[in-house]
Amino acid sequence: MSLRSARAIAHPNIAFIKYWGNRDAALRLPSNGSISMNLEGLATRTRVTFDPSSESDELLLNGKPANKSALSRASDFLDIVRNLASIQLRASVVSENDFPTGAGIASSASAFSALALASTAALGMKMSEAELSRLARRGSGSACRSIPEGFTEWAAGLSDLDSFACSFAAPSYWQLADCIAVVQTGEKQAGSTEGHKIANTSPVQRARVEDAPRRLEICREAILKKDFEKLADIIELDSNLLHAVMMTSDPRLYYWQGVTLEVMRSVQSWRQSGIPCAFTIDAGPNVHVICLADESERISNLLQDIPGVNTVLISRVGGAARLLLD
Ligand code: PMV
Repeated sequence: MSLRSARAIAHPNIAFIKYWGNRDAALRLPSNGSISMNLEGLATRTRVTFDPSSESDELLLNGKPANKSALSRASDFLDIVRNLASIQLRASVVSENDFPTGAGIASSASAFSALALASTAALGMKMSEAELSRLARRGSGSACRSIPEGFTEWAAGLSDLDSFACSFAAPSYWQLADCIAVVQTGEKQAGSTEGHKIANTSPVQRARVEDAPRRLEICREAILKKDFEKLADIIELDSNLLHAVMMTSDPRLYYWQGVTLEVMRSVQSWRQSGIPCAFTIDAGPNVHVICLADESERISNLLQDIPGVNTVLISRVGGAARLLLD
């Protein structure tokens, strides 16, 4: 039997309404729906080759053999694909991020969406966008939102069958940008898989989840009407709610550094002075500053002047995960 191989590209995404906590951890069925924007400026490119002569899965990340836990997570994901295709073949996976590793930019969304697309294409499986999104979700919840293009919404759903993301606006619909203020990091923080597990230990989580449909609607409408003020208000509220849950869970999770709060305050004052921008923060200390694309250079320069901000990465709205031809 010959080698079966395919290569795919996918972008990470930044959530405007965040996913935190699972109703079903094994299936990664989320406690609440979420909305995000794909990030064009950052990408993961992954080649998957199923090889009949290979006895175990292999994973090369940015040119180096991956550590044990990354390999076993990729292998568990490939087991789901093998199961769907009714095959046993082991695979070699070669994956590269074009953004700096170790900068605290989460790559699991782009990693698992690219892996879902490349592995199923390598095996010649015909998958709809919804099926691919469901599959990517099994590797990392937020990965399901990196399969469709532009602005996407992941409906929490009731089961594996209806928990996937759809695009509700194309990348060109609204020219937004994300200026990511990459800040100095301290020790390694808890990963999101651990964080999801303890979300329910926070008394704030229940209120956050119950109010999610309201925030989702405001956010979706703000994007569809291109109402930046409304968008700014809802994404900052949602980000603060997420961190309120993290800081009150057991154990407590503190993702911010001092400079994180410094950037949040600066963003607030820039907005008050008439520059449309808003912050949102994931499970790390970096601050994503969302702005109109035309303003991204100005925002980036302002961010770079804040002591403790190492670099600023600028990204516009990204497209869907797609196959790369050799
Ligand atoms: O997909 P995960 O397990 O990496 O979780 C993502 C969690 C957040 O980035 C904090 C929020 C989100 O919706 O992307």
